Amino acid sequence: MKAFHCSEIACDEFPVGPPLVPWIGNLLSLDPARPERSYAACAARYGPIYHVRLGALQQVVLSDPHLIREAFGRAEISARPDTAINTFIVDRSGLICSSGELWRETRRFTLHHLGSLGMGKTSLEPYIQGQVSAFMERVLEPSCGAPLSLDTPLNSAIINIIWRLVASEEVDITDDSMSGVLRRQGAIIGASARLVLLDTVPWLAPLLEPLLVDKRHIAAEFGALLEETFTPVLRRHRDTLPADGDAPRDYMDAMLMEQRRRPELMTDWHMLMSVLHLFFAGSDTTATTLRWALGFLCQRPDVQRRLQAELDAEVGRQRPPTLADRQRLPFTEAVILETQRLGDLLPVLVPHQTTAPVTVGGYRLPAGVQVIGNVQAVHRSARYFAEPLQFRPERFIDAQGQFQPDKNVMAFSVGRRQCLGESLARAELFLFLTAFLQKFSFCWPEGDQQEMAEDPKYHLVRCPLPFKLVPELR
Ligand code: HEM
Repeated sequence: MKAFHCSEIACDEFPVGPPLVPWIGNLLSLDPARPERSYAACAARYGPIYHVRLGALQQVVLSDPHLIREAFGRAEISARPDTAINTFIVDRSGLICSSGELWRETRRFTLHHLGSLGMGKTSLEPYIQGQVSAFMERVLEPSCGAPLSLDTPLNSAIINIIWRLVASEEVDITDDSMSGVLRRQGAIIGASARLVLLDTVPWLAPLLEPLLVDKRHIAAEFGALLEETFTPVLRRHRDTLPADGDAPRDYMDAMLMEQRRRPELMTDWHMLMSVLHLFFAGSDTTATTLRWALGFLCQRPDVQRRLQAELDAEVGRQRPPTLADRQRLPFTEAVILETQRLGDLLPVLVPHQTTAPVTVGGYRLPAGVQVIGNVQAVHRSARYFAEPLQFRPERFIDAQGQFQPDKNVMAFSVGRRQCLGESLARAELFLFLTAFLQKFSFCWPEGDQQEMAEDPKYHLVRCPLPFKLVPELR
């Protein structure tokens, strides 16, 4: 990693931040497990743009929606940091972790092919509805009246949708194997988390590394995960790849065909990492948002009843809701947006890094600085949202009863690296939630008023504390 020291760059161009301790900077004041909390405390003191230095690592933290929009729209702020974790585990490859030409080409290619395969189009709708129906028949109906944890089967239903686009495969809704893959990946990231420390003191890396992490073990675990789940699927696709000129069956086919044309871009490793990134980015995020939504609706039965009344009036109970119903369901749209605001899945998004000197908020930042979009600070700011800690979907309904989306909810981020799967995620959230609430009501188990708080053990995606709810047929 390239380390930047105050002597090498124009420090006086950084925005003000908390006082720096010699050598370690602000290292001791950051909680590495929950950085958004430390960032929020600093934002309260130093304002919407400030600078922190974590050992050798320079960060500029943005807690204002206009600044986040300005920064993330810049080409010079669209790289991913060369962190130890990025370098060691994925070798700066794959859709989420790559930068520069490799990332630009892969993102364009992926948007094109996932679009052709149905992402963001009505052609995928029947498949999503099929997963919703299977989930309701196999999981919700048999559990009516009894406490139910949604984790595994909900993950499987959501994974099936992205996995169909990527690999034309699906698992049975009650099959735990794909959720197991998610858990294993979470454990690998958890075990590698201490690598972050190496970014702050790169000059001590050779000394510290063997003490902090068992790199051989992590590499073996990651290798086993790939070999058991992802590599065989890629191999099967390669063995049965359609001829040039034929339509690809799925994203893996499209990548392999591109590899024939551009082997230097689509290496096997980059393909595997991109597939892995789609698998994780496209499943855990949406399934967890749905869990937040159902939890909030158990906590607020009045909101649940209002949403169901809107569904009954506009869709009825005879046919499944479709994406075309969105326009007529403003309150439902408001519930989804409010869930994303308060659920705050990725409170500080995914870090960006500057690749050249660039101006943000009037400050000239050098290359090599991490830029953090602290959207939780925006989502919880009373300046943008009255009573920000309350679940109040009606804040997005105007005087005419219409849904008013609010640009300050930035759950999918903004700018050049904005979530690539946003259209798919929005379709999934809408179709799952409306179909569930059309047929079922949900409440907490008797005498078990559960609290909707974040699970302190989460990695990457902010999850609610594990909870059980009781589905009842309407
Ligand atoms: C509710 C669900 C989702 C949320 C809240 C979410 C949020 C995000 C966020 C905050 C980022 C980082 C943006 C940045 O770096 O500025 C991101 C990136 C990404 N998301 Fe999503 N996402 C969701 C669902 C999905 C789905 C369904 C897919 C599947 C196609 C997906 C694929 C990706 C990819 C590939 C990236 C990396 C984009 C890049 O680096 O250029 N996401 N997402």
